[in-house]
Amino acid sequence: MAKHKIGTQDEFPRDQVTARTVDGVDIAVYALSNGYYATQAKCTHLMGPLAHGKIIDDRLIQCPRHHARFDIRTGEVVDWANFPPGIQMLNLIRKEKALKTFPVSVENGALYVEI
Ligand code: FES
Repeated sequence: MAKHKIGTQDEFPRDQVTARTVDGVDIAVYALSNGYYATQAKCTHLMGPLAHGKIIDDRLIQCPRHHARFDIRTGEVVDWANFPPGIQMLNLIRKEKALKTFPVSVENGALYVEI
């Protein structure tokens, strides 16, 4: 893994998710109350753009497409795709899969991610 600077803290407003491409890898960066986190940018269900998702309870990201929810800190699935009604049929072949996560650190006001 290599460490990459992705910007300064003021570029990542609290309670928001921001898209970045680092070394050819698309990631979503989250600014939570207890720090910064990063996951793969696309949902594991059907590639929904997580940077357009909604942060819930300062710990979950809800995909904008079919509302799967993931723990931002671990990438684990909390709720699988459930919107619109009927999407569960598709879930028979699209099984739950956690997001990849990437360590984020802060040094002198700058954010670094390990990819
Ligand atoms: S693409 Fe994310 S829940 Fe379907």
